[in-house]
Amino acid sequence: MSKAPDLSMEIAGLKLKNPVLVASGTFGFGMEYCDYFNPSVLGGIMTKGITLEPRPGNPPPRLCETPAGLLNSIGLENPGVDDFLASYLPVMKEKFSTAIIVNIAGSTVEQYAEVSSKLDGVEGIDALEVNISCPNVKEGGMAFGATAQSAAQVVAAIRNETSLPLIVKLSPNVTDIVEIAQAVVDAGADALSLINTLLGMAIDIEKEKPVLGNVFGGLSGPAVKPVAVRAVWQVSQSVDVPVIGMGGITGAEDALEFFMAGASAVAIGTGNFTDPLTAVKTLSGIEEYLTEKGYASIKELIGKAWKGS
Ligand SMILES: Cc1cc2nc3c(=O)[nH]c(=O)nc-3n(C[C@H](O)[C@H](O)[C@H](O)COP(=O)(O)O)c2cc1C
Repeated sequence: MSKAPDLSMEIAGLKLKNPVLVASGTFGFGMEYCDYFNPSVLGGIMTKGITLEPRPGNPPPRLCETPAGLLNSIGLENPGVDDFLASYLPVMKEKFSTAIIVNIAGSTVEQYAEVSSKLDGVEGIDALEVNISCPNVKEGGMAFGATAQSAAQVVAAIRNETSLPLIVKLSPNVTDIVEIAQAVVDAGADALSLINTLLGMAIDIEKEKPVLGNVFGGLSGPAVKPVAVRAVWQVSQSVDVPVIGMGGITGAEDALEFFMAGASAVAIGTGNFTDPLTAVKTLSGIEEYLTEKGYASIKELIGKAWKGS
């Protein structure tokens, strides 16, 4: 019998038992999923976005289904960094033996820096993922990730505060994602994750007004996958740090596209809502594919579609 393929992966010095993660905001802090499977089988958990102060989130309605997708305007509802450290992280540490990647967000560069400094050196945190899609309140609400300059500024400020591996999460709502990717790598990112949601909206024609309480929301799910695969393809060829791919993954076939486009790991987001077992099924499907095709390691697939054989 052939040996099981090697699924282990190293990203920014972080050793993952396998390259299947769950995406921020779609898995909470992991507890709710324990009724369905043991999240420790995954390569890692990316937490809900954590901010300096607790946030109640946006007014309802906050979710709206679209053809092959989901619009959300949760508005970063979270307990705040202090309560996360006191009440949530200890439970995660106790329950899960997998990488814990804390997603962070802020409204000013200073807030990002302060959250990072509070998380730096805390036992049980394996890496930070920086959500740069948040509005910069000092710059008229434009997202930090919208320009290379502001994206680099926030990453440099965080880099100053922490020696944790830094994964910077790119927004697809930009003209040139490669330019932003290069700027954040130059500013100190150890890895990149992409994509965050695409800005969208829906209108209720009976009420004759926007569906979402916040008017705009982020589009995710299968509808965004081609955009995400394209972004991973472009970015992975233009930076020399690992890329974590996400956007519309609902199974192993989707995930394999991301590896071949250049991703070193993948994350399941909206797919967790349609079937809470999506991440585990994706993992076993990847293993089956590698075995069937005779690959010894998942690493052989990274960038295969542009590197060739
Ligand atoms: C309900 C919901 C909440 C999310 N919250 C966050 C968040 O707090 N921080 C973040 O960086 N991304 C957040 N995201 C974006 C996802 O992590 C992911 O990048 C995006 O949804 C694309 O992947 P998917 O199509 O598999 O969902 C959220 C997405 C959804 C659907």
